[in-house]
Amino acid sequence: MAIYLDDVSRTFGEYLLIPGLTTKQCTPNNVSLKTPLVKFKKGETPAIELNIPFVSAIMQSVSDSGLAIALARNGGLSFIFGSQPIESQAEMVRKVKKFKAGFVTSDSNITPENTLADVLALVKRTGHTTMGVTHDGTPNGRLLGMVTSRDYRAEKDPLDKKVKDFMTPFAKLTVGTLGISLSDANQIIWEHKLNTLPIIDKDQNLAYFVFRKDYDSHKDNPKELLNPRDKKLLVGAGINTRDYKERVPALVDAGVDVLCVDSSDGFSEWQRETIEWIKREYDGKVLVGGGNVVDQEGFNFLVEAGADFVKVGIGGGSICITREQKGIGRGQATAVIDVAAARDKYFKETGVYVPICSDGGIVHDYHMVLALAMGADFLMMGRYFARFDESPTKRLVVGGTYVKEYWGEGSNRAHNWQRYDMGGSESLKFEEGVDSYVPYAGKLKDNLDVTLGKIQSTMCSCGATSIHDLQQHAKITLVSSTSIVEGGAHDVILKEHN
Ligand code: IMP
Repeated sequence: MAIYLDDVSRTFGEYLLIPGLTTKQCTPNNVSLKTPLVKFKKGETPAIELNIPFVSAIMQSVSDSGLAIALARNGGLSFIFGSQPIESQAEMVRKVKKFKAGFVTSDSNITPENTLADVLALVKRTGHTTMGVTHDGTPNGRLLGMVTSRDYRAEKDPLDKKVKDFMTPFAKLTVGTLGISLSDANQIIWEHKLNTLPIIDKDQNLAYFVFRKDYDSHKDNPKELLNPRDKKLLVGAGINTRDYKERVPALVDAGVDVLCVDSSDGFSEWQRETIEWIKREYDGKVLVGGGNVVDQEGFNFLVEAGADFVKVGIGGGSICITREQKGIGRGQATAVIDVAAARDKYFKETGVYVPICSDGGIVHDYHMVLALAMGADFLMMGRYFARFDESPTKRLVVGGTYVKEYWGEGSNRAHNWQRYDMGGSESLKFEEGVDSYVPYAGKLKDNLDVTLGKIQSTMCSCGATSIHDLQQHAKITLVSSTSIVEGGAHDVILKEHN
């Protein structure tokens, strides 16, 4: 006979937190959102701790190098999507690793033999008028000069005029050498009244540009998630259970800090084999999370295989139709509560703490605090991040409002058959995700500041100054459907927003 679970499968919107005593020390500024990303032994510090409990979803429409840089600069971490060729995923990892605040890899480059027509075409394509002239037209070729809009008159000069005849040649450029600090670079910009300072290596190859206009935007990012050894941003990457023997070495070579096996159902022998192979091949030194699971059995299975964290959630994602298509899944809140109990039990028995990640289904900011209070160590979100400038998708106007595109990995558009792989043919047999729009929300940092402020404020109401505190002491109650109505504005006539 089938096994019937006693508890109902519930989601975050069915719960509320009950305030605990807020002491005078309990102010939002004193609340730490630091949290472990990977497993650690009792009394030891985890190899990676996040400064905010957020990671971005392993999805084409969410986590490319642009979002990864923005999120790591704000204390979280992205897992670069794996549904792309190995080399392009590794390149995205490299791009994050190369990032240095204020040092920009030039995206507009040209050779001395090109013409004014080529320059104008490049301006049109990139929108940038400052160009490096390199021997081969690449961003890191030997620097031979620079072109800016002050070097030519687009209407008057002949279009076939050669770049070498109007560029500012290398001999007349003020340059900085690789290794220079940002403040020294800015000092040179200031002293020489420059708009742009090219940074070159010892062989005169162009490394970066430092722009005067960026000066003000480089405020302190106190939560920046850096590798303490080399001060580079941390970045993760998604992998699958098919090509991992080629993909993992390429990602490790590119400098990835942590991997995650990306699967809609991680309770499988393929996933175990993948994690075990990585742990064996790299002598346990490469960090890898597993998932997704929704119960204790799934958690224990992945931990046995060697997973450094376990991702929880099936069917709760905003773009997900897995539950409708296949009838599998579990309410996200119930899944987190159940798996958190397994994590605590494992910790008690072995002294090893394996963090869990609540993946999918977060809609409101208060869902985040609930997920943390229920035991999640960090949260993976797709829809939340897809709305920001830094996500890789197009911004469009639909029905008079700005939106961004957001599509599931199980949609035909992403065609990530490996995520939904059941060991059969190399194709998606049916869709498990949709292609959609989400409301455009602006810059990541602005939104994150509001969200984190709310989380810290709720934690203060609960009398908690750390996530661990919250998990230990939170009081959580189920709500009736009638009291959910009471939670919104009700029985008033709302004024229209201007
Ligand atoms: P969201 O934050 O609610 O938008 O959920 C994002 C999560 O949904 C991802 O991290 C994945 O676990 C999951 N997901 C991504 N694409 C699909 C899909 O096409 N079908 C089902 N789940 C998906």
